[in-house]
Amino acid sequence: MILENVLDMLDPEHARRVSLLSMDLARSLNLSDQDFERIGYGAHYHDIGKISIPASILDSESQLTDVEFEIMKRHVEYGLSILSVQTSEEMDAAKVIVGTHHERWDGTGYPNRLKGEGIPLYGRIVSICDTYDALTSKRSYKSAWPIDETLAYINNQKGKAFDPYLTEVFLQIIQEGVLV
Ligand SMILES: [Fe+2]
Ligand SMILES: [Fe+2]
Repeated sequence: MILENVLDMLDPEHARRVSLLSMDLARSLNLSDQDFERIGYGAHYHDIGKISIPASILDSESQLTDVEFEIMKRHVEYGLSILSVQTSEEMDAAKVIVGTHHERWDGTGYPNRLKGEGIPLYGRIVSICDTYDALTSKRSYKSAWPIDETLAYINNQKGKAFDPYLTEVFLQIIQEGVLV
């Protein structure tokens, strides 16, 4: 209950959209119903640690400085510590997502520089969906990117930021959705 209130104080629409997109991707990968539900649940929490980041950084209208970005990165560890108050199989899946949604396929992400399939599948799924929603949304420091530019960017990050196979499936889902 309290955790949900925290989500409401952040960006609940972003959390909801990332969750829905992640479930779409999980469905298209033919994952089990249990995976589908856990990914959908956990994705809501991916940025919960941002509650501990100063508003001056969260709402900054300019590109973050290196120092500010280092502080922003800590939302991962803050999120893990917030979720550590609860233990359940669903919450453990959420912790995996919180802990790995900024890892990159090429091993240059944070916080642990995990690489390739060493990054848990849940984190690899949410990473793509999170980036897509962040780019297509207006933020304090940027306007919303058009869908075609966003898809070109995501395609360009295939094998760099993102799992190549998941990237292909994701692009297909969005393109089909956009065409409907
Ligand atoms: Fe994040
Ligand atoms: Fe996010």
